[in-house]
Amino acid sequence: MSAGPVLLFDSGIGGLTVLREARVLMPERRFVYVADNAAFPYGDWEEEALRERIVGLFGALIREHKPALCMIPCNTASTLVLGDLRTTFPDMQFVGTVPAIKPAAERTCSGLVSVLATPGTVKRQYTRDLIAQWGARCEVNLVGSVRLAALAEVYMRNGFVEEDAVRAEIEPCFVEKGGRRTDIVVLACTHYPFLVNRMRKTAPWPVDWLDPAEAIARRAASLLSASRDDRDASADRAIFTAGPPDAATRSLVRGFGLQA
Ligand code: DGL
Repeated sequence: MSAGPVLLFDSGIGGLTVLREARVLMPERRFVYVADNAAFPYGDWEEEALRERIVGLFGALIREHKPALCMIPCNTASTLVLGDLRTTFPDMQFVGTVPAIKPAAERTCSGLVSVLATPGTVKRQYTRDLIAQWGARCEVNLVGSVRLAALAEVYMRNGFVEEDAVRAEIEPCFVEKGGRRTDIVVLACTHYPFLVNRMRKTAPWPVDWLDPAEAIARRAASLLSASRDDRDASADRAIFTAGPPDAATRSLVRGFGLQA
């Protein structure tokens, strides 16, 4: 097993929700966090252009950092390029994510599940196929949010978010039908767990908010040996494709133990 770092990739700071779980499960590992913020938000991108961009970026990242494993917790990226990455870099291990429709279908009591994601993830064939596979067990309501990822970015940097904006974005998740109500909302974007307290506060009724971060981290940990990555003693790093980040972002990532 390579002694390189674990590379964690997201379109912005959303993947930090997964980094904090990964750290708990792999305390001996070094992490390189990559935010492709020059291209944020991924949710708005046309599929072919985004695929090309991400595969190109990974070529350079793998060459430079020689990771032991790459994690792509970003749903918008994973549902599009995971297959291409595995084909293009057959020697690298990739851990991706897909909307947690299976666990939601297994857990729902009312049979009404909502999946909250970016417009990109909502459009993906991968997402549609998952629903076709698990939809016999429950009704899945796909909700594409145009604003939530950006609201989470602002909230994490500035500590403030307009509650009315959050309320408006999550409102379509709440469905009432024949005396039944949505009881699970799948958070199918790495950014959303940052806003989950605001979501709880503005939701019309209580639901389970399903966050797959820990499951993704568990999967990565299971693929890596516990051998220590001690090639050098440098701190975990955060790389931003848009160049050196502003002071608020630097201070945010420092809070997650990363050097920007
Ligand atoms: N963090 C990404 C995800 O998990 C989406 C945010 C974006 O639109 O870039 O889907």
